[in-house]
Amino acid sequence: MVTKNTLGGTFVSSQGIAFTRMGYGAMQLAGPRVWGPPADRDEAVRVLRAAVEAGVNHIDTADFYGPHTTNEIISEALAPYDGVSIVTKVGSVRDDNGGWPHARSPKELREQVESNLTTLGVEALDIVNLRVGGGPDGHSAVPGSLSEPFGALAELREQGKIKHLGVSVVDADQVAEARSIAPIVTVQNWYNVAHRGDEALIASLNEQGIAYTAFWPLGGFNPVQSGALDTVAERLGTTAKAVAIAWLLQRSPNIVVIPGTSKVAHLHENLAAAELELPEDALTELEDVGV
Ligand SMILES: NC(=O)c1ccc[n+]([C@@H]2O[C@H](COP(=O)([O-])OP(=O)(O)OC[C@H]3O[C@@H](n4cnc5c(N)ncnc54)[C@H](OP(=O)(O)O)[C@@H]3O)[C@@H](O)[C@H]2O)c1
Repeated sequence: MVTKNTLGGTFVSSQGIAFTRMGYGAMQLAGPRVWGPPADRDEAVRVLRAAVEAGVNHIDTADFYGPHTTNEIISEALAPYDGVSIVTKVGSVRDDNGGWPHARSPKELREQVESNLTTLGVEALDIVNLRVGGGPDGHSAVPGSLSEPFGALAELREQGKIKHLGVSVVDADQVAEARSIAPIVTVQNWYNVAHRGDEALIASLNEQGIAYTAFWPLGGFNPVQSGALDTVAERLGTTAKAVAIAWLLQRSPNIVVIPGTSKVAHLHENLAAAELELPEDALTELEDVGV
C-alpha cells in the first residue's frame, strides 16, 4: 500500500512497516573506498540530520562501512532515533586490506549483530538484512540455500535483538526460502534505470507487500550515464541523477530508493527528485537505457 506525501509517498509493508520511498544510504559517510573516517565528519553529521529533518524515516548502513565509522556517526547524529529506522546489513566483515570477505556462519552473524548493537547504541536493531550474494561482480545473487545464516538471524529476532528482517543480494528462490523461515519486510538488491535484472522479483514482492530497496540508484561506484537520461533531463530542466531517481519511484509502488551522498546539497537535490513526474514520452525514451 502506498500513501502519498512528499518523498515519493510511503510504502507500508504487509508487516506494517512504513518506508518513506526516499530513504538515505549512509555508505558514502566513511572515508575513500568505504574505509576509515570521512574527510568532513561534521558534514556527515549534517547530512544525516538533514535527511531526517526532511522526513526520511529509514537510513541504510552496515557495521562494515569504515568499519564501524558509519554506524558511530549515525549514532552521534541521530540517537535516540525518534521515528527513524536504522537498516543495517550483516554477512561480511572487512579485512586488513580493505576487502569485504563473507562472514556468514551463525557465530560470525551473532558477532556482527552484537557489534551493530554497540556501534549504533541500541538494545535491538530495527531492520537487519542478511547480505547473501557475491558472484564475479561482487553484488549479484548467487543461487544456494540461505537457511543456516537466515535461521541464525531468525533466532536473534526471537531473542529480541532484531525487530525485523530482510535479505539482500538475493534471487526469488532465496526470498521464498527466507520467508519460509521468518517474515521479511524488505529485499535490498542492485537495481536502477540501467540495471534491471529484478523486474519480475519486484512485481512479485509488490504483490506480497514487501518493500524492494534499490541500492545503487545512481550507479554507485560507476555512475549511471546515458544519452537518453541526459536528453530527458535537459528537456525537463533537471539533472540526469534526478531523472534516474524519479524513474525508480515511478517504476513500481514498492520500490524504495536509498541514494548515498556525503554532501547536504546533494541530499537536497536527491530528495527534490521525488517531486519530479516523468511524462509517458520520457518513460518510453528511457526504456532503451536498461539491460
Ligand atoms: N546491499 C548491498 O550490497 C549494498 C551495496 C551497495 C550499496 N548499498 C547501499 O546503497 C546506498 C546507495 O549506494 P551508493 O551510495 O554506493 O551509490 P549511489 O547512491 O548510486 O551513488 C552515490 C554516488 O553518487 C554521488 N551523488 C549522490 N547524489 C549526487 C548528486 N545529487 N549530484 C552529484 N553526485 C551525487 C555520491 O557522491 P557525493 O558524496 O559527492 O554526493 C556518490 O559518489 C549505500 O549508501 C548503501 O547504503 C547496499
